[in-house]
Amino acid sequence: MRLFADTAHLPDIKELASWGAIDGVTTNPTLLSREEGEPEKILYEICEVVQGPVSAEVVSTDWEGMVQEGRRLAQIHPHIVIKIPATIDGLKATRALSEQGIRVNMTLVFTPMQALLAAKAGARFVSPFIGRLDDISSYGMNLIADILEIFDHYDFETEVLVASVRHPMHVLEAARLGAPIVTAPPKVIRQLIRHPLTDIGLEKFLADWKKLQERLK
Ligand code: E4P
Repeated sequence: MRLFADTAHLPDIKELASWGAIDGVTTNPTLLSREEGEPEKILYEICEVVQGPVSAEVVSTDWEGMVQEGRRLAQIHPHIVIKIPATIDGLKATRALSEQGIRVNMTLVFTPMQALLAAKAGARFVSPFIGRLDDISSYGMNLIADILEIFDHYDFETEVLVASVRHPMHVLEAARLGAPIVTAPPKVIRQLIRHPLTDIGLEKFLADWKKLQERLK
């Protein structure tokens, strides 16, 4: 399973990349709005750090505008993937950009049928938002299971990119379902490695080793 960092915060991305933990990055207008500086410069810097897809989202809502914006964003760096919302205009733009060899990540996906249409339009990735479904008392992970089952029957090149991840159990459940990619905020990625018994165990090993060294003096 590939793990992407769902953030535009460069210090976090650099740190996670140094662990060898991340294979890509997803950003969105909200995440970029939290950072200081020019969004396109930030996206370029992220692409230089991460050797994998970096999603940059369009803010146009008409398909011609999305295509124009997508083409401009794609010029920032070869790692850029264009995030397009799951709307009718989004499908048209996805088809046009994909035909031009520009990879699209169809975002804001909340139903299996949106994912199916994204795949048919040529999206390289489809991003179902599980946390936002959980927030409205709808079990988000069912959406992942449904999309994976549907994609399994056909030979789309589209990969499921599990998004809107809120905690480590989302990552675990997505991995158990065989989702190819999960994008998670840095906080969640850090939670994946931390365990109190690891900390307690390490502390005890080091204390015992210190005692042994003192005895040998
Ligand atoms: C994914 O690509 C989105 O950027 C992100 O996962 C949305 O997460 P949120 O629902 O926590 O805002």
